[in-house]
Amino acid sequence: MHSSRSFAIAAVAALCWQTVLAVPHVPRQSSADNHALNRQRADAVKDAFQFAWDGYYKYAFPHDELHPLSNSYSDSRNGWGASAVDAFSTAIVMQNADVTNTILSYIPTINFGQPVPGSQISLFETTIRYLAGMLSGYDLLKGPLSGLTTNTAAVDAILTQAQNLANNLSFAFDTPTGIPSNNLYFNPQSTDGSTSNGLATIGSLVLEWTHLSDLTGNKTYAALSQKGQSYLLHPQPASSEPFPGLLGTNVNISNGVFLDAEGGWVGGDDSFYEYLLKMYVYDSTRFASYKDRWVLAADSTIQYLASHPSTRPDLTFVAMYDGQELIFESEHLACFNGGNFILGGLVLKEQKYIDFGIALVTGCEDTYANTLTGIGPEVFRWVTNTTAANDTTNPGPSSHEEAFYKKAGFYITDGAYILRPEVIESFYYAYRATGNQTYRDWAWNGFVAVNTTCRVGSGFAELQNVNAANGGGFNDFQDSFLFAEVLKYSYLIHAPDNVWQTNHNGVNQFVFNTEAHPFKVAGPPI
Ligand SMILES: *[C@@H]1O[C@H](CO)[C@@H](O)[C@H](O)[C@H]1NC(C)=O
Ligand SMILES: *[C@@H]1O[C@H](CO)[C@@H](O)[C@H](O)[C@H]1NC(C)=O
Ligand SMILES: *[C@@H]1O[C@H](CO)[C@@H](O)[C@H](O)[C@H]1NC(C)=O
Ligand SMILES: *[C@@H]1O[C@H](CO)[C@@H](O)[C@H](O)[C@H]1NC(C)=O
Ligand SMILES: *[C@@H]1O[C@H](CO)[C@@H](O)[C@H](O)[C@H]1NC(C)=O
Ligand SMILES: *[C@@H]1O[C@H](CO)[C@@H](O)[C@H](O)[C@H]1NC(C)=O
Ligand SMILES: *[C@@H]1O[C@H](CO)[C@@H](O)[C@H](O)[C@H]1NC(C)=O
Repeated sequence: MHSSRSFAIAAVAALCWQTVLAVPHVPRQSSADNHALNRQRADAVKDAFQFAWDGYYKYAFPHDELHPLSNSYSDSRNGWGASAVDAFSTAIVMQNADVTNTILSYIPTINFGQPVPGSQISLFETTIRYLAGMLSGYDLLKGPLSGLTTNTAAVDAILTQAQNLANNLSFAFDTPTGIPSNNLYFNPQSTDGSTSNGLATIGSLVLEWTHLSDLTGNKTYAALSQKGQSYLLHPQPASSEPFPGLLGTNVNISNGVFLDAEGGWVGGDDSFYEYLLKMYVYDSTRFASYKDRWVLAADSTIQYLASHPSTRPDLTFVAMYDGQELIFESEHLACFNGGNFILGGLVLKEQKYIDFGIALVTGCEDTYANTLTGIGPEVFRWVTNTTAANDTTNPGPSSHEEAFYKKAGFYITDGAYILRPEVIESFYYAYRATGNQTYRDWAWNGFVAVNTTCRVGSGFAELQNVNAANGGGFNDFQDSFLFAEVLKYSYLIHAPDNVWQTNHNGVNQFVFNTEAHPFKVAGPPI
C-alpha cells in the first residue's frame, strides 16, 4: 500500500546503526510446535471477518466499500466491487466456503471495461487489489484449497477476467519509454496527462503482471511491467541514488530519468523495495538481479537510515531522506519494512536482516503500545541527539507533546488510523521467523484494539486520533484492505502451518503481494 506525500529537508549526519546499538541476537527457534494453531484467537478473527463481510454484503455489495456508520457505500475503486475482490483470498485461507463461493460467483460478472462513469483508474491500486485478488484466488482454488468449491467454471473464469482487466489497462504502458502512466480513464482511453510516475506505482506491478503471464502463457503482461521496472533497476542520473540502492521518487515518463532524490521506505516508495525481494522469492532464477538491488537498499538502510530517538536510544526507526540529508519522520505505512527485512533474512539466510527487522518491528510496536487506543498513528516524528535544537526542518515536539515524546520516543504529527495493516503484517513475519509467542501477543493486542475502537455500526471505521479517547471520532469509511490485509495477517499469525504461510526455513510455496494476496511461487525452491 502507498500514498504520495511531500516532505521537508534536514542536514544531519548519518548514523551507523550497528555502532550505536548492540543488536539483539534473535535465535532461530523453529520447531513446528511453535506454529501450532491458537484456535480461540484464530476463531475470534474469523468472527470479525464474518461480521465485516455481512455488513458490507447487506449495505454495500457489489460497490467498492461500506460506510459502516450510515450503512451506505462508495465506489472509490471504480465500482468493480473492491471489497469483495480484496476479501476473496482472505475468505479462502480462512476456509469460509460461503463467502468464498459468493465472491467466486460475482467475479465473472464484473465488467472491467466499464468503470463508474468519469472515475479515474489507478493502474497501481487496480493491479494490487483487483488483479492480485483474482490471481491469488485462482492459485488457491486451483491448488491447495480446491475443495472449497464445486464451481470450477467460475474458477476458470477468474483467469479470463484477470486477462480482461489487464487488457483493458495495458494502454497505460504505451508511452515513449514504456514506463506506465498511473492515472487512467476508459471510454475513451486516456490519462490524466501526468508527465511523471512514482517509484512505488511503477515498481509494484511486476509481480502481478509477471504472474499473469506465467498463468496464461501470454508473455506481453510480464514484458510490459518489466520494461517499466528496468528504469528503476538502472536509475539515472547517479544523483537519484543518494545511498546505494536507495532511490528518488518521481520518474519522467518521457525519458526514464529520475526527477528527484527524495525517498525512503514510506508511502510513494515503499512497495518498490518490497517487490525487489518478493520477485526473488517468486522466482530466484529469473529475478536474481532484483535481489541484488534489494541487498544494496537493505544494507544502505542499516548503515545510513537507521536512527534512534534522543529519548529512547533502545528504539530503532528508519529515517527518510532528501539526497543525503535525513528527515526523522516515518509512517504506519513504512512499518511493513520490519517484515520485509525478516523475509529477506529468512530467504537469504542472513541473520543480520532478521535482527534488524526485529528491531524495526519493536519500534512499530512502540507506536501502538504508547497511545490511548493501543493503535499506532499515520505519521510520527522523532529527533536525534545530532539534530540542532533550532533546526526548523527537523522540529522537536511542542511543549505539550514533550512528556509523551520523553516516554514514547516519537511524537504524533498525524494521529489518524485508516485501518492500515503494516504493523500487524510485520508481527506476522516476526512470528513466522522465530516462533516467539510475543509477536503473536502483539498482533492479538493490535487486533483487539482495532476490534474495540474501530468496530462500529455495520463494520469497522477509520479513527481520527489514535491518542484520544475512543479514537477521537470516526470517519465513515471502511477501506477494502481491512479485508485483504488486517484481517488476513491477524488470522494467519494464529493459524496452523500451511503451504500459503511464510516458512521459517526460507523455502516458500507462496509469496504475498503488497495487498496480502498470496501468489504461488513460480521458481524452484531457493
Ligand atoms: C475489458 O473487460 C471486459 C470484461 O471484464 C471484457 O469484456 C473486455 O473484452 C475487456 N477489454 C479488452 C480490450 O480486453
Ligand atoms: C496478450 O496480452 C496483450 C496485452 O494486454 C494483449 O494485447 C494481447 O491481445 C494478448 N494476446 C492474446 C493472444 O490474448
Ligand atoms: C522529461 O523528458 C522530456 C524528454 O526528454 C523532456 O523534454 C522534459 O523536459 C523532461 N521533463 C522534466 C520535468 O525534466
Ligand atoms: C541522547 O542524549 C541523552 C542525554 O545525553 C542520552 O541520555 C541519550 O541516550 C542519547 N540518545 C541517543 C540515541 O544516543
Ligand atoms: C542554530 O544554532 C546555532 C548554534 O546554537 C547557530 O550557529 C545557528 O545560526 C542557529 N541557526 C538558526 C537558523 O537559527
Ligand atoms: C521474544 O520476543 C521478545 C520481543 O522482541 C523478546 O523480548 C524476547 O526476548 C523474545 N524471546 C525469546 C525467547 O527470544
Ligand atoms: C470484538 O467486538 C465484538 C463486539 O463488541 C465482541 O463481541 C467480541 O468479543 C470482540 N472480540 C474480541 C476478540 O475482543
